[in-house]
Amino acid sequence: MRKNRLSFVVAAIIIFLIGSFFIEKRETQKEKLPTVGVLQFVSHPALDQIYKGIQAGLKEEGYEDGKNMTLVFQNGQADQSKLATMSQQLVQEKKSDVLIGIATPAAQALANTTSERPIILGAITDPVSAGLVKSNEKPGGNITGVSDKSPVDAQFDLIAKLVPNNKKVGILYASSEENSKYQVEEAKKVAEKKGMTVKTYAVPSSNEIAQTVQVMASEVDMIYIPTDNTIANAMQTVVNEADKAKVPIFPSVDTMVEQGGVATVGINQFDLGVQTGKMAAAILSGKSQPATTPIYTFDSGDIIINQKQADKLGIKIPENIREKAKIVE
Ligand code: TRP
Repeated sequence: MRKNRLSFVVAAIIIFLIGSFFIEKRETQKEKLPTVGVLQFVSHPALDQIYKGIQAGLKEEGYEDGKNMTLVFQNGQADQSKLATMSQQLVQEKKSDVLIGIATPAAQALANTTSERPIILGAITDPVSAGLVKSNEKPGGNITGVSDKSPVDAQFDLIAKLVPNNKKVGILYASSEENSKYQVEEAKKVAEKKGMTVKTYAVPSSNEIAQTVQVMASEVDMIYIPTDNTIANAMQTVVNEADKAKVPIFPSVDTMVEQGGVATVGINQFDLGVQTGKMAAAILSGKSQPATTPIYTFDSGDIIINQKQADKLGIKIPENIREKAKIVE
């Protein structure tokens, strides 16, 4: 009886050891899958679209989460200290082979964490002024990616055609966003060249947005918004306040037109993500190196019009523009 029990215990131990050996082996095999770590700055419709596009782009190039690649996603919720810790996690704990930063502050947090692991920029307005690459043509380090610099000139051409009598433009952006400052400067130049007067309104945080838009509504004929994450995140507030005073909003991207802007010429946010995903795949498979891969830029955008919003504000869309435009609700 005793002997039996002993051999039972021995057998159990052996089975346990063999079992754990296989489980461990499976886990190490799992760890061997290449890891793509994504850090998104904050949630707003544009960045969420970009992340969806990234997944599609990776898939198009044959990388599927759980099959031949592990995708780790983190969202910094617009919090600098969260961005820093999450970057650490993606680099050290998760041992990401390729990192992707969605929006400038996320890319900067990753860049501060590693100068070796490849980083792909997901829709960064100006990688050079953000201190991420030496030049767009020859990035030179461990970073390359996609810029979403918007076609400001075409945007103001469209604005001039839709509201020819509106001459006073107010530009709304967050003073904390490096990426917006660049675009604000450019928009100012372009608008002034087209005979408009420009006033800029920088909000210190999202708390001041409603009040700032109220002030703008009494001082300008229209509101222009660059690709600013803080404003994109509070688009509903901006639209509510501007609607009260019947002031049209001209943002820089499709998603912000969908949220209540009137019109824009913009780069499709999902497409930005697809391009980012494809670049990440090329680096992951060793086909290309960040240092010698130029920053990808889109040279044209689509005309996007929110017909309901235009009707509400009494803005007539000329037929020749409507024909070429994508109409959104
Ligand atoms: N370009 C922004 C950045 O560099 C990120 C961004 C992409 C964005 N698409 C947007 C911001 C749309 C606002 C709206 O941080």
